[in-house]
Amino acid sequence: MGQPILVQRRVQGDIAMFSGDRSLTGQDGARYFAADGVPDNGKLSAAVAKEFFDLDPEIDYVYVAYNHVMARRAGGWDEDLLEAADEALNRFFVFYDGEIDVPIGGAGSGVALAPPGAVTGLSDETMEALRTEHYNATISYLDEVHEDLWIFRVRPDDGPLAYQAGQYTTLALGFWEPRIDELTEDLDDAQRRKLARRSYSVSSSMLAENGSLLDPAEEAAAEFYVVLVRSDSQGTPAVLTPRLFLKGEGDRLFIGRKAAGRYRLDRFDDPTADVVFLSTGTGEAPNNRMTLDLLRRGHQGRIVGVCTTRYLRDLAYLETHGRLAERYDNYEYIPLTTREPENEGNKIYIQDLIESAKLEEMGFALDPERTHVYLCGNPLMIGLPEWDGDTPTYPETRGVVEILTERGFTLDHGRTIGNIHIEEYW
Ligand SMILES: Cc1cc2nc3c(=O)[nH]c(=O)nc-3n(C[C@H](O)[C@H](O)[C@H](O)COP(=O)(O)OP(=O)(O)OC[C@H]3O[C@@H](n4cnc5c(N)ncnc54)[C@H](O)[C@@H]3O)c2cc1C
Ligand SMILES: NC(=O)c1ccc[n+]([C@@H]2O[C@H](COP(=O)([O-])OP(=O)(O)OC[C@H]3O[C@@H](n4cnc5c(N)ncnc54)[C@H](OP(=O)(O)O)[C@@H]3O)[C@@H](O)[C@H]2O)c1
Repeated sequence: MGQPILVQRRVQGDIAMFSGDRSLTGQDGARYFAADGVPDNGKLSAAVAKEFFDLDPEIDYVYVAYNHVMARRAGGWDEDLLEAADEALNRFFVFYDGEIDVPIGGAGSGVALAPPGAVTGLSDETMEALRTEHYNATISYLDEVHEDLWIFRVRPDDGPLAYQAGQYTTLALGFWEPRIDELTEDLDDAQRRKLARRSYSVSSSMLAENGSLLDPAEEAAAEFYVVLVRSDSQGTPAVLTPRLFLKGEGDRLFIGRKAAGRYRLDRFDDPTADVVFLSTGTGEAPNNRMTLDLLRRGHQGRIVGVCTTRYLRDLAYLETHGRLAERYDNYEYIPLTTREPENEGNKIYIQDLIESAKLEEMGFALDPERTHVYLCGNPLMIGLPEWDGDTPTYPETRGVVEILTERGFTLDHGRTIGNIHIEEYW
């Protein structure tokens, strides 16, 4: 059974301080800025910071020292968010005995398979009351691309989401909501009444029904592009998407009212720059939204979108990209699959596309003097380095950041405004 950490908290303006009864770092403490990204260094403090940043896009700074976590959120903290933070912190300290091997820390690690009957359900009336209390938006449109991949739009009750192209916000559903996979979870009554929150980039279908470019100013709803994750790489059941994929048009959910992220177009201001959008899976979402903005503003440089998916059916926006490429001379789209029969012995990752000079053959010179590259999705494709001062150490699996850096590109990182822009999904 779980042994939760005792968490006390104090809030003063934008700062919330959480104190537990177990130590999270050594005596030096560790500071993390959301804008710099969290290094994948295996440290507990980094995992805690990542969990906090994922809770809400407005949390921009986390300091972990001894048994304290101090987090800053512009605009202050509401009770729901404080509870979500408590809960996140507790997940790092809940150990399970018995046959279930649940990793300590990380998203969803407080979730486990439990014997039938071990979970206390809530009554329909209680669940309805919780939905009324917490949810602030409606699913206004749903396109089931296939059973595991959705494009849907969320209309907030109090007006359109304020965001910039490329940014993300939070979507959430209550832990009380049923799961598509019917896995039971080791949640107590208090946990079951809370929200399961995750970050999602705003996407766009780019073309209206009449074939013209969409006008984002006229959209009452924000579009999202989400894949159903059943479990993480350790086999821990996923938390939010198995609940989301039981919802439909007209159903209610929670949306964060603030968007965040420096994965945006205002990281450069040259209207003649070449822009290369590289993504895996649903990592295409923010790239679609930025492509729309570039095309709407008549960007003069070349624009190329590349997306790698397992199967052809996972390229939900393929037809739209094709129509855009026909219409705009400066726009190209390169879809890549990795698990179709023809990929047997012929699997091309985005890294291969760059190293084989195929992009150059298509006219994209990848010249650091005039090109901005945006990378979104699977962290293995991106390949962010760990930093020791100014010295990067790249991951074993060669990612795009390493390849481009060798060619003279600079990572947009910390206080450096570079020409490689990244958004990691996990
Ligand atoms: C800034 C940001 C923006 C994001 N935008 C999107 C988006 O637009 N669309 C989207 O589908 N997801 C997006 N994600 C991922 C999303 O936040 C959730 O992690 C994801 O939906 C799984 O949530 P879960 O609770 O069901 O699974 P969890 O219990 O959180 O399981 C997480 C595991 O699922 C895998 N995973 C998570 N997301 C993906 C993904 N998109 N594709 C493949 N494997 C994944 C990883 O192995 C990860 O460890 C984004 C994440 C971040 C940090
Ligand atoms: N896509 C589906 O049909 C499907 C169906 C059911 C459930 N899911 C679940 O959905 C989640 C996400 O799946 P997803 O396919 O959208 O995302 P994903 O696993 O990140 O795969 C997206 C693409 O990235 C490629 N990729 C993997 N490692 C890479 C690397 N090191 N460098 C460059 N590219 C790399 C994948 O190729 P590889 O083929 O080599 O992995 C694939 O083409 C998973 O949890 C999965 O279990 C997906």
